[in-house]
Amino acid sequence: MMKWWKQSTFYEIYMPSFKDGNGDGIGDFAGITSKLDYLKELGIDGLWLTPFYPSPKVDNGYDISDYYGIDPDYGTMADFETFIQEAHQRGIRVIADLVLNHTSSEHQWFQESKSSKAHPKRDWYIWRDEPNNWESFFGGSAWEFDSETNQYYYHAFAKEQVDLNWANPEVKHAMFDVMKFWLEKGVDGFRLDVINFLKVNDSFQDNPYDEEQIHLYDKDQEGVLTVIEEIAEFVHQYPDKFLVGEVGSEELDILKQYSGLKKLDVVFNFNIGSMATFDTEKLYQQLVGTEQAYDSTQIPTLFFSSHDMSRHISRFGGDEDRAKLVAALMLTAKGVPFIYFGDEIGMRDWITDDISKIKDVQGIMGYQLALHAGKSQEEALVVANEKSRDKSRTAMQWNSHANVGFSEGVPWITVPEDAYKVTVEDQIHDSESMLSFYKNLLKLRKEHSSLQFGEYEYLRNVDGMIYFVRTNGFEKILVILNFTDQQKTLEIDADINLLLSSRRTKLDRGAFVTILANEAMILKGDIGNDLVKER
Ligand code: NOJ
Repeated sequence: MMKWWKQSTFYEIYMPSFKDGNGDGIGDFAGITSKLDYLKELGIDGLWLTPFYPSPKVDNGYDISDYYGIDPDYGTMADFETFIQEAHQRGIRVIADLVLNHTSSEHQWFQESKSSKAHPKRDWYIWRDEPNNWESFFGGSAWEFDSETNQYYYHAFAKEQVDLNWANPEVKHAMFDVMKFWLEKGVDGFRLDVINFLKVNDSFQDNPYDEEQIHLYDKDQEGVLTVIEEIAEFVHQYPDKFLVGEVGSEELDILKQYSGLKKLDVVFNFNIGSMATFDTEKLYQQLVGTEQAYDSTQIPTLFFSSHDMSRHISRFGGDEDRAKLVAALMLTAKGVPFIYFGDEIGMRDWITDDISKIKDVQGIMGYQLALHAGKSQEEALVVANEKSRDKSRTAMQWNSHANVGFSEGVPWITVPEDAYKVTVEDQIHDSESMLSFYKNLLKLRKEHSSLQFGEYEYLRNVDGMIYFVRTNGFEKILVILNFTDQQKTLEIDADINLLLSSRRTKLDRGAFVTILANEAMILKGDIGNDLVKER
């Protein structure tokens, strides 16, 4: 039977920013539950929730201090259980973000580990007498000195996110218990944070430099795939559970090692999703490259925004037509789509002129290191805005009086000044809105199995247009994405119907079809391999 996740479209919810249910200005489970009907109507099949466990939130929950609870900001365990139940009643699956690589420095395990060199949990983390040159991914050394025991501990991210020692089997067993707990609570799988970091090279050799440090020995190390296979085997003992891995790499050669038979079900395809500026040829090359690199047990994922990056609408120039083209690609090309909350209404990035408003640890570190390197405050602010991931973490713009993030003193959410211009309330009844376009795409995807799991009959990039046919053997769907500002004409010698366009409702045609500038078109018909010709 076809696995549910192969037919699903996921939606990422950044916990504090989605919907506040209790009026304290912070998103929570009660809030999300109240919006399940909205998500159902949008056409979402699965939710990925960013970490919701108790945490000091140095890195917004990616620093977990208790793997068995719910952070009080987000509600109670009962609120979580109600949410899962209500989601499942609507046929919406839920995957939890799980951070296996590191814990908060406030976690009991670390407190015990640092209490003495002789403590049985000392070896649960990575302790050394001398640091090497490894750098933290947020900047600065990855080693922190602990004066009580006179050793350094390793942290690939903030110093409050301490790397576990996965060479110690006790760590693995402790984490299997955690997974079991949440699977039995009813989650449908996990998004595994920085999963290619679980092992570091035990030689602890210095990393080389090529202007910047190359992270040669601190990720993608020998043994990591074996651990991942064990995790996959453990989780897949439970029927129908799904694993998506965050493998922080844009290299297909690396990404492709982590998914497929016996491994993770899918990984995030950063090679496709994290293009810094829009480039049709590069995008096309990555789609084709992925298609060629993956074997028959591997399926790509499609995403263009997340809580770690600039929203694609802002990144690609702020144009709504372009954002609709990207949405059309994401929901019709081959792969499991992950929509980032707020993209369905075209929410924009937030940039600040006030450093005190930046709460993201990566932004703050960037600012401090820039000042330290002799930059002025203005220059350091530019760096902080570049590095800060707060840009895409602002509150969901439900309406012009939505309460999440709108209260004073909320520690990590800021409201963009133009937040009121783009809201769900304004778009929900507008058939030409971004939101309606997303809904139409999702509906189309549900109605046509070729769009869910069909193969490409062909995939081309001609003159700034990416177009492809997907087929399940019976139906054929032609998707034409004109990423240029020019109108184009194609000869399509077949009987076709317009299913959806981002720019019009009807298609008048003879043998020649006009594609409007920046138009996304989805057509159905008996379109053979050589029937689409450029004119
Ligand atoms: C990846 C997460 O998506 C990011 O937000 C976090 O800072 C790092 N992993 C560290 O956990």
